Amino acid sequence: MSAFIDSLIDDMTVEEKAGQLTLYTSGWAVTGPQLRDDYLEELKAGRAGNLFNAHTVDYAIKLQKMAVEETRLGIPLLFGLDVIHGYKTTFPIPLAEASSWDMDLIQKTARLSAREATAAGVNWTFNPMVDISRDPRWGRVAEGSGEDVYLGGLIAAAKVKGYQGDDLSDPSTLLACVKHFAAYGASQAGRDYHTVDMSDRVLRETYLPPYKAALDAGATTFMTSFNELDGVPASGSKYLMTEILRDEWGFTGFVVTDYTAINEMVPHGVVENEKQAAELAFKAGVDMDMQGGLYSRYLPELIKEGKIKESMLDQCVRRILEMKYKLGLFEDPYRYLNKAREEQTLFSKELMDHSLHSAKESIVLLKNEEVKGAKLLPLSKSVKSIALIGPLADNQKDMLGTWHMSGDASKVVTLLKGIKETAPEVTVHYASGAGFGDSDMTGMDEAVRAASKADIVIMALGENYQQSGEAASRSDIGLPKSQQLLMEKVHTLGKPMVAVVMAGRPLSMTWMEENIPAIVNAWHLGTMAGKAMAEVLFGDHVPSGKLPMTFPRNVGQIPVFYNMKNTGRPFDESNKYTSKYLDIPNDPLYPFGYGLSYTSFDYSNIALSTEELARTDTLSVRVKVTNTGRYEGKEIVQLYLRDLVGSVTRPVKELKRFKKINLKPGRSETVHFKLTYEDLCFYTRDMSFKAEPGKFKVFVGPNAMEGLEADFDFN
Ligand code: BGC
Repeated sequence: MSAFIDSLIDDMTVEEKAGQLTLYTSGWAVTGPQLRDDYLEELKAGRAGNLFNAHTVDYAIKLQKMAVEETRLGIPLLFGLDVIHGYKTTFPIPLAEASSWDMDLIQKTARLSAREATAAGVNWTFNPMVDISRDPRWGRVAEGSGEDVYLGGLIAAAKVKGYQGDDLSDPSTLLACVKHFAAYGASQAGRDYHTVDMSDRVLRETYLPPYKAALDAGATTFMTSFNELDGVPASGSKYLMTEILRDEWGFTGFVVTDYTAINEMVPHGVVENEKQAAELAFKAGVDMDMQGGLYSRYLPELIKEGKIKESMLDQCVRRILEMKYKLGLFEDPYRYLNKAREEQTLFSKELMDHSLHSAKESIVLLKNEEVKGAKLLPLSKSVKSIALIGPLADNQKDMLGTWHMSGDASKVVTLLKGIKETAPEVTVHYASGAGFGDSDMTGMDEAVRAASKADIVIMALGENYQQSGEAASRSDIGLPKSQQLLMEKVHTLGKPMVAVVMAGRPLSMTWMEENIPAIVNAWHLGTMAGKAMAEVLFGDHVPSGKLPMTFPRNVGQIPVFYNMKNTGRPFDESNKYTSKYLDIPNDPLYPFGYGLSYTSFDYSNIALSTEELARTDTLSVRVKVTNTGRYEGKEIVQLYLRDLVGSVTRPVKELKRFKKINLKPGRSETVHFKLTYEDLCFYTRDMSFKAEPGKFKVFVGPNAMEGLEADFDFN
């Protein structure tokens, strides 16, 4: 590889080199895929070495042919795409799938997405998005794995392994791109693209580890983030791109910017013009320019002026050509472009089955109270009539969630359809009732009429696909007002009510929690959404998802997350001068790790192998979990640690392990966890990563707020 690439680089002009560092988008017009004429010219001249949003075999073949046959050196193109939760077959949004806490499932979603996307010519996905976020106002929480560093790291690694497989030259694998480096999820006030500022300690302890976990799992490319960090935009940050990513972590792949992020350093205000921006990004360690065209325009000039060394340019080119080589593109530029494979793979049974499985595992049951002496859920299939009300009840497009760009809404199973298939005997009165704006209430009367005819009311409420995702921050994260009013009005009928909430973020739904007896949080579940929800509602599937992100009571409580600090005045109800609000409790509406089942689980007999742990010891923690209910079900058993005293303050709890178990009614399992020295380490006062002697608490339970406790000392 290295001899081949060296000789290729020897043949390249500076313009062609800058071209390999350039990535442009293709657009999809009404009539089909299209590339702007000026980009086509750039491509043929060797000044655009990579494309994104150019998928489907027919289209990609044309473009690849152009690169191979019409450019001077015939270097094949990379084809990138945001395959975020599926290509055509759409899986649950990432935040939903994180609720499964099931790494095999998540890895398989990535594997199958890669298989489907590569069959349509894609060889590079801009995923996983591993930005930790503690702010549900930020619309992009939908694309990530929530608030926790440990869970986030495991998911990041699972996705990279799923996308890249073991062999990049296998035509069913693609390059993964870890994004957005770094700390994009901490934008101030949850407003997208906004400023990020945090201590190096928080950066390293909470935000960086999932990117590192993705790298350790073999991630081949990284994407910069739009935000600044400590006053420097990420795409111009030598600290991030060179000192941390390459020097500390040893990354050898290539770094691409986010969309026009180099150009945006001008409005950020760290450079006067785009030429300076290109120089800053290049010197910071950014290899590829997405969409901005600045590398192609200015690098040759900057080299001529002696501001940039050509040897540095060669290094970036080498990193990109290496990836093309590893994908097998020099051997066969059409390796990913096989029409027959495309036809066989899209929407295959294996993909659709996994989409359903994943959707069911992603559903979180938030509340299930007794109505007339029995838990409201699951519903009996012999119930006479149901009213299904709400704008998400028979809605295909919004089930796909954010970033479903290549998904196909016509294939989506809606909740209405899912219920008809799952409980065919039940009469369903359907009415949409409201919309997604605050004032869209034209259907209210019809909905109330439908509800009054039924024995049970299911309300399908929440956000549409555009109300979360990129550039979709919200300052009020309740239900749209029209839906809230609809729910309150229907509630006055006094019928048993189930709320099914579909959204791309944790919603604050305090009224619902106080008034509606059963609440199912279904996120945006993808192609098989309606079938998965119906199976849960009628008990064919027992829900087991747990929240990967805290649900606040209201926006004023944000940021609220489980691993906060204790403060010097921890909450004390009887003392005004403690850390709290006058109007709401400190506790969230639903904590991290929370989720119910149709069955119930009892935790008992927590036992530690030792109360005195030495550096080389392993601590075994055992706990007995018993299914005390009437259904077979899964439970995600969670272990948290607290380091009571440190040279710097420590969080009140940190997730360190979990295990998803399945138990038949009446059965018990002793769940066994092992902890070692590494699990006790943190960035101490002098920023060295180590454990300090002292007292620790272990908690094992069903979520971050409940559980059994035990103590040990580390010496
Ligand atoms: C997003 C990225 C995405 C890129 C390419 C940007 O606007 O921030 O996450 O990969 O567009 O579509």
